[in-house]
Amino acid sequence: MRAARATGKGLASASTQARAQTKPRGATSSHGELDRLRKARVLVVGDVMLDRYWFGDVGRISPEAPVPVVKIDRVEERPGGAANVARNAAALGADVSLLSVVGRDEAGSALRRLLRREHITTQLHTDAGVQTTVKLRVIGRRQQLVRVDFEAPPGHEALVSKLRDFEKLLPSIDAVILSDYGKGGLTHIVKMIRMARAAGKAVLVDPKGDDYSRYRGASLITPNRAEFREVAGSWKSETELTRKANDLIRRLHIGALLITRSEEGMTLYVPGARFHVPAQAREVYDVSGAGDTVIATVGVMLGSGAALDEAVRLANRAAGIVVGKFGTAVVRREELFGREEDGRMRDERQEPSDDARR
Ligand SMILES: Nc1ncnc2c1ncn2[C@@H]1O[C@H](COP(=O)(O)OP(=O)(O)OP(=O)(O)O)[C@@H](O)[C@H]1O
Ligand SMILES: [Mg+2]
Repeated sequence: MRAARATGKGLASASTQARAQTKPRGATSSHGELDRLRKARVLVVGDVMLDRYWFGDVGRISPEAPVPVVKIDRVEERPGGAANVARNAAALGADVSLLSVVGRDEAGSALRRLLRREHITTQLHTDAGVQTTVKLRVIGRRQQLVRVDFEAPPGHEALVSKLRDFEKLLPSIDAVILSDYGKGGLTHIVKMIRMARAAGKAVLVDPKGDDYSRYRGASLITPNRAEFREVAGSWKSETELTRKANDLIRRLHIGALLITRSEEGMTLYVPGARFHVPAQAREVYDVSGAGDTVIATVGVMLGSGAALDEAVRLANRAAGIVVGKFGTAVVRREELFGREEDGRMRDERQEPSDDARR
């Protein structure tokens, strides 16, 4: 592992580029991370979904087919996809706007309600022609019995008005997080990146699929290992991985690449430098959503004027905390900066739903 600051020029200049002239707005003291975080204004754009859990008892096998009958006694709902990224950024104290498309249905209303409760400003365009993306899990006898997905790509009209809103929102934010879950909500991503960069904003992308050319010019892309392997092929050594990372950075003109590597931690690549942070988790219960926590933390930190290596270090710490919680949880800013840590951890784990999901 090489220290980021020691690697000098490469990281420092990429950091500046990723920060992209965002103004910290307000002084920062040496203990100033908290103050700065409060002031970050982050715009999250992408595919939102509703994670829904139906919990119940299995008493018998259905007379209609060889499947269990689950009598539902409790329902849980959480914002998912880009909405989970927004939720993570809000938990860190940022001012968060979420721009996306939902259907004119009950799930769309549920999402709005949940997000309002977390003080997220929603700019959700309604497309009457589609269903809001829902991932419904039916859980009986403490295990998931089936997952039922509802989804449809948003229509042209909704996407065009979303792009207009994006342009309007740009002047009043510090950083943009584009959370691509491959559901069609980021059809105009090329234009969005171009507009945001022209406005001097940091643009972070959580990628999907095998064509990264649409992320050209972004400040930072955050694939996990499997996602990076899909676009760059496998590697046999760190040297080979570094070469592949640098090739991608050069080819796409991106400011930096952050590969999240599950139990191996994460590695940041910028032209001419590499910065690795080992995983920090003390206990691992549930890794789902850790990637959302990572990009939200980096986005909030960059949006508040932090350097890229500092942002990555904190994102790794946040990921280490979130994998110790059940479900797609969030990390609060007090936990990240070492206050009330134990109390907060206990609070999350005592949620009955998390318990039942074990
Ligand atoms: N098993 C683990 N042990 C320790 N830390 C972990 C583990 N899994 C994830 N992490 C932490 O979370 C970060 C992100 O995890 P990962 O690389 O799995 O992202 P991801 O696959 O995008 O996650 P997801 O898509 O489920 O949100 C890692 O860089 C690491 O810091
Ligand atoms: Mg991910």
